[in-house]
Amino acid sequence: MGKAVIAGNWKMNGVGAAAEQLACDVRDGAWSLRDRAEIIICPPATVLTRIAKAMEGGPVMVGGQDCHAKVEGAHTGDISAEMLKDAGATHVIVGHSERRTDHGETNAIVEAKARMAMNWGLRPILCIGETLAQREKGRAREIVQDQVFNSIPHEFEEAGGIVAYEPVWAIGTGKTASVEEIAEMHHYIRWLLGNRQMGAVPILYGGSVKPAIAASILAIPEVGGALVGGASLVASDFLAIAAAAPVPAA
Ligand code: PGA
Repeated sequence: MGKAVIAGNWKMNGVGAAAEQLACDVRDGAWSLRDRAEIIICPPATVLTRIAKAMEGGPVMVGGQDCHAKVEGAHTGDISAEMLKDAGATHVIVGHSERRTDHGETNAIVEAKARMAMNWGLRPILCIGETLAQREKGRAREIVQDQVFNSIPHEFEEAGGIVAYEPVWAIGTGKTASVEEIAEMHHYIRWLLGNRQMGAVPILYGGSVKPAIAASILAIPEVGGALVGGASLVASDFLAIAAAAPVPAA
């Protein structure tokens, strides 16, 4: 496997100079981690342009948190893939469970969003993962399979697409899936992606990733990095997670 992808999802946090400072602190620490991690931060859209400008020429890439499935038009409050590109983004998160839940995004919508992102040359970070109720009913694999088959567009691998497995019950709860649970699901997702001729797509783990547990998660076979929420709001924590990634074999 190549370098770990360490992506920070700031969610609805970050304004003005403080947001820029957080990004700059991440950038300053990221120079020395270039051998092991590809670092991406996804700030709110209102500070994206400002942060993308500040990150220019540095080791940190910038992504959006969502984009619309349509090119443009009458969609009040929404953000298009072209707007993110114009603001300086290289990546965009699509299908995050908070979007799937809060905004009723189906697999078909997520697939259309990812396709639109790819059309504009953005690399989608496409989130999948089961809820606690689904896991308790023994349906975790079935849900994940449905998401892999129906929310990931064709040519995702060629477009530099990234998958993030985030069990919904582990997001923002402080509950991390066990190493065994992560290993088992990542192995399964790798197999599903192989079935779709997308065998080389990186699969990130997300859900309460913190510095203390990062090394054990990032060492799991088929874990290609982490999508980090809460801990990405503290530069030293986020950098410690990236520093826990194993250096890829030459
Ligand atoms: P968390 O969020 O690290 O705060 O659990 C992860 C995510 O939602 O991407």
